[in-house]
Amino acid sequence: MAAAITISQIAQHVGEEVTLRGWVYDKTETKKVFFVMFRDGTGLVQGVGFKPDLSEALIAQLTALTQESAVVVTGVVQANPKAEKSVPHGYELTITAVEVLQVASDYPITPKEHGTDFLMDNRHLWLRSKRQWAIMRIRATIVHTLRNWLDDRGFLLVDTPIITPTAGENTTNLFEIDYFGEPAYLAQTGQLYNEANMMAFGKVYCFGPTFRAEKSKTRRHLMEFWMLEPEIAHCTLEELMDIEEQMIAHVVSAVLEKHQPELAILERDLSRLEAIKAPFARISYDEAVKRIQAAYEAETDPERKEFLKIEWGDDFGGAHETAVAEMFDRPVFVYHYPTAVKAFYMQPVEGRPEVCRSVDLLAPEGYGEVTGGSERIFDVALMDERVKNFGIDPNAYSWYLDLRRFGSVPHAGFGLGLERTVAWICGLDHLREAIPYARILNRKYP
Ligand code: 4AD
Ligand code: MG
Repeated sequence: MAAAITISQIAQHVGEEVTLRGWVYDKTETKKVFFVMFRDGTGLVQGVGFKPDLSEALIAQLTALTQESAVVVTGVVQANPKAEKSVPHGYELTITAVEVLQVASDYPITPKEHGTDFLMDNRHLWLRSKRQWAIMRIRATIVHTLRNWLDDRGFLLVDTPIITPTAGENTTNLFEIDYFGEPAYLAQTGQLYNEANMMAFGKVYCFGPTFRAEKSKTRRHLMEFWMLEPEIAHCTLEELMDIEEQMIAHVVSAVLEKHQPELAILERDLSRLEAIKAPFARISYDEAVKRIQAAYEAETDPERKEFLKIEWGDDFGGAHETAVAEMFDRPVFVYHYPTAVKAFYMQPVEGRPEVCRSVDLLAPEGYGEVTGGSERIFDVALMDERVKNFGIDPNAYSWYLDLRRFGSVPHAGFGLGLERTVAWICGLDHLREAIPYARILNRKYP
């Protein structure tokens, strides 16, 4: 009996008869030959049936196969450099038998072009297509590599709650839920809990779903996304940037090493990824504003010029981030943002309290902010004052203030948006393809 294998193992079975369990991805037929592309979740392989060699029964079975029918197929593995559509490349299967488990009729996603809304309505099926397969595999490697990188460096994974009694980041985009008659909120960040965990375990991280009720319809915003948040005792802003650039450069090189076939499916410009090496560029907010203002002066297109307008003190919009990022071939850190545009917990710069010890990392090619972080205020009096000035109820944050009362130390941390990172590394136009089931404005189905 032929050994049951996965397509990912096919290279070790050249010349052998094997059995694959999967689905029909695509089928074409000429007068003499069936070409059936099979997928099994681990790869794709071109199946070939040369009609003069096939029994009548097998011809009938192959004739009846439709897109996405579930099949068990048996055949002899051949190495053929021309089998370029197979993943891994260069292998095909000479079909000897087919068992049909279920015939799919009228599968809605056909090889022709479909509109994005249609594809998003059929996301549960769209995930089977080659491009989505490539993205989700790269996403899994990014997650795996990030976690390993931190685990190997003494960071402890400590999970933070999703249901929270207060805002973690700001009050404008909270999702409120009814917690047995009391309001509660879906987590905007694990950071505040991370700070408590950091005081208990030194170097920690959390990695979980994060919720922002962003009433904006940009390609960079999701209502539900995944954020990786490391928090480190005795860490300065400069050391935080060192950690981020090492980690991100490592992740990009891991994807390049492991996912050449997927990157080829995505038609990703590899030279842009190969350029991602530490150190990254580091510029202050002051300098970034000067550079954007110069870009504004030089811009001749009136529409683009409008978006580039900026004054010192303004937060960056997407166009500003893109303009700054375009000045570098690798990610760029922008540090010391105005205190007024950032969260309440950020440490002011000594002698210049109008700016804070914050840092955002902007990805190249217009992907915008992929990480945001800062040194945290560790002095209890200053934190008290901040909480009051921001109109936050000190009682609700009493536990957070405890962290400054009992053995407070300087510390820093950041949050990395997983989908922004996936979109950038995969070269996607929109974050909706970077997560299996996107929650965006006007969409929570399927
Ligand atoms: O800059 P943010 O809001 O930072 C925080 O929440 C900090 N408390 C993190 C920390 O220091 N521990 O979010 C961090 C990152 C952003 O840089 C971005 O990559 C991503 O999370 N992000 C989003 N991704 C998708 N959709 C959204 N609506 C996002 N909002 C933030
Ligand atoms: Mg931010």
